[in-house]
Amino acid sequence: MANQGLLLQVAFTPEELGTTVVQNARVVVLDVLRATSAICAGLHAGIRCFRPVLTTEQSLSLAEQGFIPAAEREGLVAPGFEVGNSPLVFREPRFQGTQIALTTTNGTRALHAARDAGASEILVGAFLGLEVLLQELHQNPRPTVLLGSGWQGKFSWEDTLLAGALAEGLLARSLGYHAQDDRVQAARSLWQNHRHDLRTAIRLSSHFARLASAGLEEDIDFCVQLNACPMFGRLVGEDLVPGWG
Ligand code: MLT
Repeated sequence: MANQGLLLQVAFTPEELGTTVVQNARVVVLDVLRATSAICAGLHAGIRCFRPVLTTEQSLSLAEQGFIPAAEREGLVAPGFEVGNSPLVFREPRFQGTQIALTTTNGTRALHAARDAGASEILVGAFLGLEVLLQELHQNPRPTVLLGSGWQGKFSWEDTLLAGALAEGLLARSLGYHAQDDRVQAARSLWQNHRHDLRTAIRLSSHFARLASAGLEEDIDFCVQLNACPMFGRLVGEDLVPGWG
């Protein structure tokens, strides 16, 4: 029997976490459009940390503790907020050294679901930092669940594409990871079919349509740049901090 210690699993949505084995596993949360891309880009540009919270009220209340409130709902900056969830905005120099209290429609929910499920370690990843995240998963091997944030409980094309890129990177290099679940193979096939043109592939996703109709194509094209911001995030206590460098 293959090494049970390095089971690699994929969950397409936070709701599916219950169908994976999370106890003693690392969960890597993925929200390509845009929460985990924004977090990786922001940490890479010098943001000190992101505090993922579930509600806009929680985000606003953290201003008292020196956090900048940031909130996205339905792809837009939430009413009453000045900052949403744009990776390009979080790269602006005005955010360097700051702490951001972030709530988003799906990504921050997925982070909380991973914590509530008892993950032993929580990382966040993006195409922007694919290679450094793979290096971390190689160097610190442990059972791993790749968790797509989905869209309101439903499967997400782009998160599954990134899960496939990570699964391919781990399984093809014979590092001791093994998979028993068709979701891993499905994600891997998606990546194998679309890896050569991510800019076109992302246009097949439903969230592309939502964001593009809001004029956010620049954000989308940024999020599919492989290794443009070598960074992943790590949850330490309540905050996501740089997991690399
Ligand atoms: C989410 O958490 O659902 C996303 O990050 C939405 C977005 O910012 O486009």
